[in-house]
Amino acid sequence: MFEGAQKEIDELRQGEAYAPFLNDPNNFKKRFYIESYGCQMNFSDSEIVASILYNEGFGPTRNYEEADLVLLNTCSIREKAEQTVRNRLQAFRKTKDTKPGLMIGVLGCMAERLKSKFLEEEKLVDIVVGPDAYRALPDLIRETEGGQKSVNVLLSREETYADISPVRLDSNGVSAFVSIMRGCNNMCTFCVVPFTRGRERSRDAVSIIKECRDLFENGYREVTLLGQNVDSYYYTNEDGTEVTFGNLLESVALIDPLLRVRFSTSHPKDITDDVLYTMAKYKNICKYIHLPVQSGNTRILALMNRTYTREWYLHKVQRIKEIMPDCSLSTDVISGFCTETEEEHQDTLSLMDKVRYDMAYMFAYSERPGTLAARRYEDDIAEDVKKRRLTEIINLQNSHSRENYKKSIGNTYEVLIENTSKRSDEHWSGRNSQNQMVVFPKGDRNLKKGDYVEVLIKDATSATLMGDMV
Ligand code: SAH
Ligand code: SF4
Ligand code: F3S
Repeated sequence: MFEGAQKEIDELRQGEAYAPFLNDPNNFKKRFYIESYGCQMNFSDSEIVASILYNEGFGPTRNYEEADLVLLNTCSIREKAEQTVRNRLQAFRKTKDTKPGLMIGVLGCMAERLKSKFLEEEKLVDIVVGPDAYRALPDLIRETEGGQKSVNVLLSREETYADISPVRLDSNGVSAFVSIMRGCNNMCTFCVVPFTRGRERSRDAVSIIKECRDLFENGYREVTLLGQNVDSYYYTNEDGTEVTFGNLLESVALIDPLLRVRFSTSHPKDITDDVLYTMAKYKNICKYIHLPVQSGNTRILALMNRTYTREWYLHKVQRIKEIMPDCSLSTDVISGFCTETEEEHQDTLSLMDKVRYDMAYMFAYSERPGTLAARRYEDDIAEDVKKRRLTEIINLQNSHSRENYKKSIGNTYEVLIENTSKRSDEHWSGRNSQNQMVVFPKGDRNLKKGDYVEVLIKDATSATLMGDMV
C-alpha cells in the first residue's frame, strides 16, 4: 500500500457518520424505482443515485406502480440501446395517467446526449440529469414537485462522487462494483462515451481503498474496479505520492487475501507490464482481462482511432500469456465498421482464431450522431452484410468458448460461491479466477455465499463448467 494511505483511511473511518434512519422503512417519505441500462458504470452510478435519494428520504421499491419517482439510467452506445429506453418509457405512460403526481426522470448517457431535447421528444419525462449532475437531483426533484420540468446536464472535470457511499442495489452480498474513474479521453471514432461522460478523471485513491475495505468488512469477497479505461488511472495524493493503476490494484489486493479483485475495462494501448506483473504477484487479483480489440485489421483500427495495430495487439496478448499463462481473455468486436471489406472482416476472424477468447461481446456497427465516425465517414456497409459478418463472428466465438471450457475439464479451481444456481436449489454457482462460471452440488457441507471451495471440473458447456467439490 502506498505511504500515508492507511493513516488517511483510519481518519476517514473515525469521522464516518452513519444514518441510522436508513434502516427503518417507516422513515421513508417517498419511494423511488430505478432501472439501469448499458455498462457497469451505469449500474454503479445508480447505486450513487440511490444513496443521494436515501438521504432525501426516498426509499427503494421494485414495483414502479408503487413509486413516486421513476428513474431510467440510460445508455446511448448503440441506436438499439436508446430504442429500448424509449419503449420502456411508454410502459410508464399508463401509470402516469392514473397518478399525475408521479415524477419520471431520465439519467445517464442518453440524458446527456439529448439534453433538453428529451423533454420535447418525450412529453412524459419531468427530469433530465446527466452523469456528472446527480448531486443536483434533490433540487431538480423539488423544482418538479413545484410543477416545473427540470434539466441539469453539466459535465464536470472533477466530479467522481468519491465521498458518496453507494447503496448496493440488487446485490448478492458477495461481489460489488467500485468506480475508480469517470469519463474517457480516447476518442475512438465510433464511440459516443467521450461526449456523454466527458473528460477522464480519476477518483481519490484513499476513498477507493476505503470503499473496498468497507465492502470486505461487510462480507463482500470480490470487488471489480470500474472505468472506461482503468489502465490510465492516475491520482496524486495530498502528500504528493503518485498512484498508478498498478499501485491501486496492489493496494486493493493487500486489503485481504480473501478479497478477490477484478477490473474492467482495459484499453490495449494502456495496459502495462507493471500491471501484468502486479496481477501475477497476487493470487487474489483474478487472472482475467477484458481486452476489447474491436477489429483484427490494422486499417480499420486506424479508422477507429484505436491507436494500435493488429500486430501490436497480438504482441500484447503474447506478453499477457508469458507473464500469466493461466490468464483468460475476453473482448469486444464490432462488425461492419465504415468501409470494412470482406478481407478485413476475415482479419477479425483470423485474429480471434489466434487469441481464442473465452468470451466476447459482439456488435454490428451502429452510427452515433456527433461522433467522429459519423462526421468523417459514410456508414456504407449494408445492414444485412453487417448482420452476416456479425453472425460469423458470433459462431466462431461460440466454438472458441466451447473449446476453452471443454479444456477446463479435469482441472481443479478455487471457486468463490456467489449464489444458489438459477437452475437448481441443490447447486451453488460461482466463478473461478478466470471468470468462468462454475456450478456444483451443495452436498451436505455447511457452506454459504462468500465461501471459497475447490471444485474439480467434470463437464462443460460453452458458458458453464460443472464439477464436484474436492
Ligand atoms: N471503454 C471500453 C468500451 C466501452 S463501450 C473500451 O474502450 O473498450 C463497450 C463496447 O461497445 C465497445 O468496446 C464497442 O465494442 C461497442 N461499441 C461502442 N460504440 C459502438 C457503436 N457505435 N456501434 C457498435 N458497437 C459499439
Ligand atoms: Fe469509447 Fe474508446 Fe473511450 Fe472505450 S476507450 S469508452 S470505446 S472512446
Ligand atoms: Fe452506455 Fe454510457 Fe455506458 S453510453 S455503455 S451507459 S458509458
